[in-house]
Amino acid sequence: MKGLILSGGKGTRLYPITYTQAKQLVPVANKPVLFRVIEALQEAGIQDIGIVIGDTGPEIRQAVGKGRRWGVRITYIEQEAPLGLAHAVKISQEFIGDDRFVMFLGDNVIQGGISQLIREFEQSDWNCQVVLTEVEEPQHYGVAELDEAGQILRLVEKPRNPPSNLALVGIYMFDPHIFQAVHSIQPSWRGELEITDAIQWLIDHGYTVRPYIHRGWWIDTGKPIDMLAANDRVLAELVPEVRGYVDRDSQIDHLVTVEEGAEIVNSVVRGPTIIGRNCRIVNSFIGPFTSIYHDTLVENSEIEHSIVLDHSHIENVPHRIQDSMIGRNVHITHSPIKPRAYKLILGDNSKVGLL
Ligand code: TTP
Repeated sequence: MKGLILSGGKGTRLYPITYTQAKQLVPVANKPVLFRVIEALQEAGIQDIGIVIGDTGPEIRQAVGKGRRWGVRITYIEQEAPLGLAHAVKISQEFIGDDRFVMFLGDNVIQGGISQLIREFEQSDWNCQVVLTEVEEPQHYGVAELDEAGQILRLVEKPRNPPSNLALVGIYMFDPHIFQAVHSIQPSWRGELEITDAIQWLIDHGYTVRPYIHRGWWIDTGKPIDMLAANDRVLAELVPEVRGYVDRDSQIDHLVTVEEGAEIVNSVVRGPTIIGRNCRIVNSFIGPFTSIYHDTLVENSEIEHSIVLDHSHIENVPHRIQDSMIGRNVHITHSPIKPRAYKLILGDNSKVGLL
């Protein structure tokens, strides 16, 4: 089996973070989501992985390279524009050849990996297997309608009246018949070649499409709130480790991870929380459910339930920062300069909640 990871797209819902960074490289518990996807495939025994890239391709190539770090072989497949998930499959035909493959969206995080799923599909003669999970608002997802025997009757994209609460998780397994499907369908009203239409084509032409109901958590990190939710989930399952320095005046509990070169000075850190490489946390309170990526300074400030990316400085902030996502090279400080006012330089599409 081969693996296909979709890592193109624009990531508009994560602006302004994704103006300067590929969405799939935003870290969850200090590890880019895309790296988590590669690890899930590698753990399932897949070594030949294609990554579909778009405008952010150079950054993704640089971060992932040839895949040696994971013991896998990466092939990059360039997509000229985000023309849909089925379009991404179409342009990957040469890479896939006659193999069966698993397609994984590069911005999805799932509990428990996919090894069992892959094994089931490998041992079967099914043409396709889709992963479904129960969601609260199915109208925002691709939704499956099942018959009494639990087989898929139909798939609908973002239905106004959902036929079930079973949404398509961003993991699909195919045999090469999917290429007939993606060549046969037409773009949808939004101009994209939809994977749901391609799978529906398989069903309509008598191919076996099997559902797999995933019972753990699954998060599509499309929006900042989803990123924070994914961060919570992954932090809660992280095995903590202290590899940095914690001074005697600091208190950290047993759910805190401190990465190499990080220093915690006269601070309280409550887990689950991760403090990244070479960070400095001084006279501050951090956590719970917080990830501070590498080379960031937090001094005389408090941060809870947030993600802070690398090379940022947060100093002397008078109120606790909470439920926030803070990008790279961001400076937040208390300003003693008069007038006593908020002085903001915010990029397009920034969001700030002031007291
Ligand atoms: P989406 O979340 O549907 O799209 P997006 O990343 O462009 O985000 P937004 O809606 O916020 O603008 O994409 C799911 C994943 O699939 C994501 O990792 C990007 C990838 N993708 C492609 O590689 N090619 C495509 O044509 C599309 C639509 C998505």
